[in-house]
Amino acid sequence: MAEGTVFGCFSIGSVAATYDEIYVPRIFIPWARLLLERADLSPGESLLDVATGPGTVARLAAEQVGPRGRVLGTDISAAMIGIAQKKAIAGEAAAIEYLVAPAAPLPVADGSFDVVTCQQGLQFFPDRPAALKEMHRALRQGGLLVAAVWREIALQPSFAAIDGALRERLGPDAAEPYGAPFRGPGKAQLRQALVDAGFKNIAVDEYRLPLIYEAGIAQALATLAASPVATTVAGLTDDERARLWEAGRRRLEPLLVDGAVSTEMVSHLAVATT
Ligand SMILES: C[S@@+](CC[C@H](N)C(=O)[O-])C[C@H]1O[C@@H](n2cnc3c(N)ncnc32)[C@H](O)[C@@H]1O
Repeated sequence: MAEGTVFGCFSIGSVAATYDEIYVPRIFIPWARLLLERADLSPGESLLDVATGPGTVARLAAEQVGPRGRVLGTDISAAMIGIAQKKAIAGEAAAIEYLVAPAAPLPVADGSFDVVTCQQGLQFFPDRPAALKEMHRALRQGGLLVAAVWREIALQPSFAAIDGALRERLGPDAAEPYGAPFRGPGKAQLRQALVDAGFKNIAVDEYRLPLIYEAGIAQALATLAASPVATTVAGLTDDERARLWEAGRRRLEPLLVDGAVSTEMVSHLAVATT
C-alpha cells in the first residue's frame, strides 16, 4: 500500500505501522498482559515469542524476567520486526533479540527456553503442526507454552460489523480474507493440536476483554489499513470507498457509547507444558 493512503480521517503509512498505532495499544497490549499472567514469569527466565509482530509480548515479558532474563522474538515479517527493533527497552528489562524467521523451522537450539509464547499467530502458520512441534522442541523439559487464538468473528462485534460491510460492498470473495485471524482452531482442535505436538498438562480457556475505539467509527474503520484486505480497500475508487465507509458506519453505530466504539473481544488462551 502506498505511504500516506488516507483512510477516513486517518493518514496511514503501512499495514505494520497502522497495526502498531491502532491495534497494539487497544488490543494487543491488554491481551499480552493477560497472556503473561498465565505465564507467571520469574526473574531470570528465558522466553521465546513466536510471531512477535511489533514485539508486544516480548517487551512486556522482558520487563518481567528482568535484566538476568533473556527474550527472543521471531516473526516472518521484516516490517514487523523492524518496528519492534525501533522500540525502546525499559531500563530494568532483559535484552531482547529479534529475528526474521518463520514459525517452522525456528532458528533456536533444542531445549533452550523456559517459556514460549505465541499471541494470535497460530491461525496464520501454513503448517501449524510443524510450528507447534518446533515450539515444543525449543522448550526445556517442563517448559511452558502459552498461546492465544481468537474465537470466531461472530463473537467479535466490531470485526463482525466491518466484515458485514465488506461483504455487502465488495462481495463474499473479496471480503473473505478479512476474517482470516478468526478462523483459527477452536477449543477442541487446539487441545488436540497440542497433544499431537507432544504437550502435556493442557488447559484451553476462554477470556473476554473490552475493546474501545475512543475516537469512534472513523478510527474503527481505519483499522482496515492493517487488515488482510488492506490492499483491496486501498485500490477502491473514492466512490466505492465512500459506500464502504457508509456501510461500515451503519453497522458500527449500534456499538457507539458516548462517541466511542465500545465492544469486546473473545479469545482462547492455551497453556501447556513439555
Ligand atoms: C495478529 S499478528 C500477532 C503479532 C503479535 N504476536 C502481537 O501480539 O501483536 C500475527 C503475526 O504473525 C506473523 N506471521 C504470520 N505468518 C507467520 C509465519 N508463518 N511464521 C512466523 N510469523 C508469522 C505475522 O507477520 C504477524 O506479525
